[in-house]
Amino acid sequence: MRRFFAFIISTLFLIVSINTAYALDDLHRWSEREKQILKSLWLGSLPPPPKDPSNRYDGNPAAIRLGRKFFFENRFSGNRKVSCATCHPENMNFADNLPRGHGMGFTNRRTMPLIGVAYSPWLFWDGRKDSTWAQALGPIESPVEHGFTRTQVAVVIKRFYKDEYERVFGSLPDFDETGLPLHAKPSPDDPKALKLWVTLPEKTKQAVNEIYVNVGKAIGAFVRTIMPTKAPFDRYVEAILKGDIEGASKILTPMQVKGLRLFIGKAKCINCHNGPMFTDYEFHNTRVPQLEGLPPDDGRASAIVKVLTDEFNCLSRYSDAKPWQCRTLRFMSTDVFRYKGAFKTPTLRNVAERAPYMHAGQFSTLHEVLHFYRDMPADKRPPDLEHGDLTDQELLYLEEFLKALSAPPVYYTDEKK
Ligand code: HEC
Ligand code: HEC
Repeated sequence: MRRFFAFIISTLFLIVSINTAYALDDLHRWSEREKQILKSLWLGSLPPPPKDPSNRYDGNPAAIRLGRKFFFENRFSGNRKVSCATCHPENMNFADNLPRGHGMGFTNRRTMPLIGVAYSPWLFWDGRKDSTWAQALGPIESPVEHGFTRTQVAVVIKRFYKDEYERVFGSLPDFDETGLPLHAKPSPDDPKALKLWVTLPEKTKQAVNEIYVNVGKAIGAFVRTIMPTKAPFDRYVEAILKGDIEGASKILTPMQVKGLRLFIGKAKCINCHNGPMFTDYEFHNTRVPQLEGLPPDDGRASAIVKVLTDEFNCLSRYSDAKPWQCRTLRFMSTDVFRYKGAFKTPTLRNVAERAPYMHAGQFSTLHEVLHFYRDMPADKRPPDLEHGDLTDQELLYLEEFLKALSAPPVYYTDEKK
C-alpha cells in the first residue's frame, strides 16, 4: 500500500515537472525571426561608436582627461556653483531626477541621460546641435544653466588652466584681459551682451572663440566615453541564443519575458525604440501634452534652422571635418511641418532609474507613460503609435520588462591613477 502511494506521488510529481518544463519552454520559445530581433536589441550588437570627424580630439586621452575636469568645473558658471555634473551627476546615470533641469534657473526641458551619446547624430530633445562639442557650448552660455560667457571661459582658462590647455591644444591664443568686458557673448536674446561682443576687436573675438571651441571639444570627447554595459536583458538574450533555456529562466522573471514579447510584438515599441540603444535617433510627435505655464514647444520643427545656422555646426569654420564628412547635416530633412512637436526618441537603457519621463518630465512614473501610450484617443494617435488594445495586465508586463534594461554605465575616469 505504501509503495502504491509512493508510486502515485512520484507520478504526480513527474507530470507537474514535465508541465512546468513545457511552460518554461513555451515562455522562452522564440521563432528564428524573433531571435533576430532580440539579437538586434542586444548590447553585443552595438558597434564601436563612429568617430566624430568634426572633433580632432575625439578619442585623444589627454583631451578626454581635461574634458572630464571641465565637466566638473564649477568656475565655468555665474555663481561658481554649477557644472555639467550639477544636472548630469555621474552617480545617477548622468541625469537628475527633476522634471526640468535646474542650474542658475530652470530649463524648459528635462535633463537628458548621457549614456551612449556618442551614437546620437543629433543632440538635445530637438537635435539643434550636431556634435557633442557643439552641444557642450550651449549650456555654458545659457542664463538658466551655467549663466556664463565664452569671454569668461577664456579668462578662467588663462588664469587656471594655461599649462594643461597648452599640453593638449598648443599655445593659448593671446588676448588682453585688461578692460575686457566679461559679459560679452554673441547671444541674440541678450542685446547688451551681444553689443559688448560685437564691439570687441576681431583678434580678441577670434582668440576667445578658439579657446571656447577647444573647451567644448575636450568636454565633448569626455562625454563620448559614457557607455552602457550589459543589463539583465542582454544576458537573457545571450542565454536564448545559446539555447540555454534554464539559464535564461534565471535571468528574467516570467512577467519580464512576457513584457519583452509585447515590446517586440503586439505593442510595437520597436517601431521607434530599436537597435542596441533602444532608439532610432529620429524625431517623433508622440502627442505628449505640453506643460501649462511653459512657452509652446514645437520641438524638432524649430531646431532645423537652429542647427543649420549654428556657428559651431559640422560645416562651420571651427569644425575639423571636411564638408563631405558632414553627411548628417547635409542630408537632414528640412520638413518643418512633419517635425512639428517632434522630439528625439530617448534610449530606454537605464530608463527605470531616471524618472520623471518625457521631454518636460510630464510623467512621473513608467506606469503613467505606458497608460498615456495606451489611452491616447484614437483620433489623436499617430499611425506609428498603433499598438493594439493592451490590457492593464499587459502594461504591467511591459513595465516589468523596462526594469530589465538597467546596468551602471562605464566612462573615462582617472581615479585609479
Ligand atoms: C541646468 C541643468 C543642466 C546643465 C548645467 C547642463 N545640462 Fe546638459 N542637458 C540639460 C537639459 C535640460 C537637456 C535637454 C535640453 C534640451 O533638449 O533643450 C540637456 C541635454 C544634454 C545633452 C544631449 C543628450 C542627447 O542625447 O541629446 C548633452 C550631451 C548634455 N546635456 C551635456 C551637458 C554638458 C557637457 C554640460 C556642461 C557643459 C551640460 N550638459 C550642462 C540640463 C543641463
Ligand atoms: C512613434 C515612435 C515611438 C513608439 C512606437 C514608442 N515610443 Fe516611446 N518614446 C518615443 C519618443 C519620441 C519619446 C519622447 C517623447 C517626448 O518626450 O516628447 C518616447 C518616450 C518614451 C519613454 C520615456 C523615456 C524617457 O526617458 O523620458 C518610455 C518609457 C517609452 N517611450 C517607452 C515606450 C514603450 C514601452 C513603447 C511601446 C508601448 C513605446 N515607447 C513606443 C517614441 C516612440
